[in-house]
Amino acid sequence: MDTIEAILTTRAMRRFTAEPVADADLEACLRAAQQAPSGGNVQPQQYLVVTAADQRAVVAHWYRKAFDRYESSRPAPVFKDEGDAAVWKRTSDASRHLADHLQDVPAIVLFLQPLIPWGWSDDEGPMDIGRLDASVYPAVQNFCVAARSLGLGTALTTVIRIYAAEALDALGVPPGRFEIAALVPVGHPAGTFGIASRKPADAVTHWNRWGDKRR
Ligand SMILES: Cc1cc2nc3c(=O)[nH]c(=O)nc-3n(C[C@H](O)[C@H](O)[C@H](O)COP(=O)(O)O)c2cc1C
Repeated sequence: MDTIEAILTTRAMRRFTAEPVADADLEACLRAAQQAPSGGNVQPQQYLVVTAADQRAVVAHWYRKAFDRYESSRPAPVFKDEGDAAVWKRTSDASRHLADHLQDVPAIVLFLQPLIPWGWSDDEGPMDIGRLDASVYPAVQNFCVAARSLGLGTALTTVIRIYAAEALDALGVPPGRFEIAALVPVGHPAGTFGIASRKPADAVTHWNRWGDKRR
């Protein structure tokens, strides 16, 4: 499919059918993820692809526990209008649905990031060269766009980080070596792909100098 259309219609999909996802499709998405850029080309990420039902249940257990904590403690949102409130409720309901049904999603991909020192110093002091996770999220988005091009739905999620140590331990990941940059459920979407509502690019773009608009 057209690349721009694939990008524009890659949005958070959290409701899936029971149809399995072919390993070949997952492998194609992982190849797309692996082509992403990374600082110094370090390619820091590892992928943990969870398709076995018992392992999905373990991940889903920790995800649900994390989401319960997040949901019950998040600050009450302030809405600018009813439309805004309705979008929030839809997202909130879909997020709850994912938390309650993650064990049924055919594949869950964990993007692991090594716990390593990143950046260095010279005589002037430490240098900010960007964070290590800036080298992992491009791979996550490549994965999601590739999945979309194959008709698969995904959602970039991070709430599992609340119980990352427990989830990683349950999956046999050596302790203290990795954090979870993202957890991405993958499946055939129950709904249809569409273009999500966003601020117009013009509204947040400045040309040459802060505040200058092209038109
Ligand atoms: C860094 C990051 C963390 C996110 N964490 C979660 C999460 O833990 N659970 C979840 O259901 N969605 C999560 N999302 C998905 C967002 O809620 C979603 O991208 C946003 O609401 C826009 O959705 P849309 O593309 O369908 O409009 C996360 C997205 C990002 C980029």
